[in-house]
Amino acid sequence: MRVVVIGAGVIGLSTALCIHEHYHSVLQPLDLKVYADRFTPLTTTDVAAGLWQPYTSDPSNPQEMHWNQQTFDYLLSHIHSPNAEKMGLALISGYNLFHGAVQDPFWKDTVLGFRKLTPRELDMFPDFSYGWFNTSLLLEGKRYLQWLTERLTERGVQFFQRKVESFEEVARGGVDVIINCTGVWAGALQPDPLLQPGRGQIIQVDAPWIKHFIITHDGDQGVYKSPYIIPGIQTVTLGGIFQLGNWSEVNSVNDHNTIWKGCCRLEPALKDARIVGEWSGFRPTRPQIRLEREQLRVGPSNTEVIHNYGHGGYGLTIHWACALEVAKLFGKILEEKKLSRMLPSHL
Ligand SMILES: Cc1cc2nc3c(=O)[nH]c(=O)nc-3n(C[C@H](O)[C@H](O)[C@H](O)COP(=O)(O)OP(=O)(O)OC[C@H]3O[C@@H](n4cnc5c(N)ncnc54)[C@H](O)[C@@H]3O)c2cc1C
Ligand SMILES: *[C@@H]1O[C@H](CO)[C@@H](O)[C@H](O)[C@H]1NC(C)=O
Ligand SMILES: *[C@@H]1O[C@H](CO)[C@@H](O)[C@H](O)[C@H]1NC(C)=O
Ligand SMILES: *[C@@H]1O[C@H](CO)[C@@H](O)[C@H](O)[C@H]1NC(C)=O
Repeated sequence: MRVVVIGAGVIGLSTALCIHEHYHSVLQPLDLKVYADRFTPLTTTDVAAGLWQPYTSDPSNPQEMHWNQQTFDYLLSHIHSPNAEKMGLALISGYNLFHGAVQDPFWKDTVLGFRKLTPRELDMFPDFSYGWFNTSLLLEGKRYLQWLTERLTERGVQFFQRKVESFEEVARGGVDVIINCTGVWAGALQPDPLLQPGRGQIIQVDAPWIKHFIITHDGDQGVYKSPYIIPGIQTVTLGGIFQLGNWSEVNSVNDHNTIWKGCCRLEPALKDARIVGEWSGFRPTRPQIRLEREQLRVGPSNTEVIHNYGHGGYGLTIHWACALEVAKLFGKILEEKKLSRMLPSHL
């Protein structure tokens, strides 16, 4: 069985690992390769602060609620493992701030200790009148990609740096299943008018005294267009940019000033923090994640494609459940091809 995963961000690598974990013992041999034109530290995933955080509004596909929860539970089960540090995984608590009362989010029972802010807490944020506090998880994109790469390498998965120009090109190379985890660039291989870049820019600062995340919400502006501060394992991420349709990967001075002004107003102690990095990236924005099978005819033969892209600003938050979902679809293909009579029962 020859399988190619296209993409080496969190979606591609976690999907590759999930498939290998579930099928390497039933499929002998399982030849699994990862093709990507960018690897860590150059993917979108490397730009993400990595807070476990769905959007505050309900997703249009109700399954995504469940996938977020499933991924939280999976990560939480690793929190006390000796691997947590290498995975870039940690518990983190913090604030969500609003200008007026809002409905509780769908994930309030997923995160730990969700509650509304007290008047004394709100006193710390004079621009805001309402908010939540909870404990969530941090999964740092860059560390997690390194960890996934090590796990895959141990398992004999090979990585190839190449730009895929078309599915047909891969299919002609003699591949049974292609798994499409190309993030925001998926549209280049097969037009997808629903997929758009949600450009973000972030500043990383050295501010080890910041221990809580602070995310502000501006009802009129939309998600991630107002300041946020998210402490990571070594640096703190400052952000608040979301530009739909903007393909520019260059850092903008304008956006820099917007982020800096907004975050220093929220947390004036940041004024003297040393800047250690600045990055731009594209959230693969789509009304809902595309996770489905498609049969591709190349010449006389059929190649199976499984699409897994469009995870917007919550790719780390939802990734593992999506990888499991792909593994299930993969299992169905094996059944149809009569390649496996003993599928893993736990999927
Ligand atoms: C500023 C910012 C902050 C964010 N913060 C968070 C956060 O705190 N929490 C959270 O959960 N999410 C966050 N996100 C969202 C998260 O980063 C994305 O949802 C996630 O990284 C998407 O992962 P991916 O693997 O689909 O894409 P990517 O990481 O972009 O990976 C795509 C891969 O596909 C490859 N590829 C694409 N096309 C081709 C081709 N034709 N040939 C070969 N290879 C190809 C690329 O080279 C790359 O390896 C943030 C995003 C941004 C921009
Ligand atoms: C906590 O709540 C905020 C909103 O309050 C949310 O954005 C975040 O994802 C939740 N999870 C964590 C870990 O905070
Ligand atoms: C991957 O999905 C994207 C998004 O639809 C699509 O444009 C691209 O053609 C797909 N690639 C393959 C190889 O299917
Ligand atoms: C797109 O991003 C660039 C910076 O890379 C910026 O100069 C430009 O103003 C942005 N455009 C929009 C419409 O936000």
